[in-house]
Amino acid sequence: MKLNFGLSRLRWRVRRRTRPQDAIDLAPEARPGPLVDLFTRIRTIPGWFTYDDCVHFHLVLRMQELMDMRGDMLEIGSYHGRSTACMAAYLRPHETLVVCDAFAQPTDDVYPDRPSPEGLQRNLLSMHPQLDWQQVDVRVGLSRDLQLGEAQFRFIHIDGGHSQAEALTDMQLCAAHLAPQGVMVVDDYENAYWPGVTAAVDAFLAAHGDFTILADLNRHGAVGRKIYLVRK
Ligand SMILES: C[S@@+](CC[C@H](N)C(=O)[O-])C[C@H]1O[C@@H](n2cnc3c(N)ncnc32)[C@H](O)[C@@H]1O
Repeated sequence: MKLNFGLSRLRWRVRRRTRPQDAIDLAPEARPGPLVDLFTRIRTIPGWFTYDDCVHFHLVLRMQELMDMRGDMLEIGSYHGRSTACMAAYLRPHETLVVCDAFAQPTDDVYPDRPSPEGLQRNLLSMHPQLDWQQVDVRVGLSRDLQLGEAQFRFIHIDGGHSQAEALTDMQLCAAHLAPQGVMVVDDYENAYWPGVTAAVDAFLAAHGDFTILADLNRHGAVGRKIYLVRK
């Protein structure tokens, strides 16, 4: 329902605003159709990633592409891979998508069904049959044990443990591995169910004057939102 509404509104705006002489020749992946197609497919994977999140990731990742920014991506907290599948759509040759999840290992947050690395792989490959699995580096375990060596990431999505301590530890680890002008996204900011995330983001920003908010984006019909941070 929400998807159809968003689509018809978008079409209406495009029709009203675009006359033949000033029509913009958008790249195929930037047209609304493929983005709706992408979300229609990935929403079949269990998860909380919304159509609005998909559009916001698209905006940021396309901006990076237009800036010719290349590099790896990282996600902490893939669950069954819904948000991961969105990120994978923007993975270019020679780039790696590192994915960390506790999977079957017990976590502070309780989930109805535990994901598995095999299920994640199945889901990602069914969404992107052309995906070279060598480009996906799945790390099984708690994010506090994640070893990233010298890796640097252009785009990071943090959606793992939702306590203040876990979210802050994840942000500090990710900040140390964020490429210049890279973007770090934290899920569930100002979600009343997960007050620890808001406290962690606020504490992180207070302690890291070199970071600023790139975007604080609402999502229709969902509690909380994702906050997008960049190094100044
Ligand atoms: C909210 S779900 C992620 C949802 C997914 N990003 C999406 O949008 O579909 C959180 C995931 O984080 C994992 N997780 C929770 N605590 C973790 C921790 N401390 N380290 C690593 N993964 C963790 C859980 O196993 C779960 O799969």
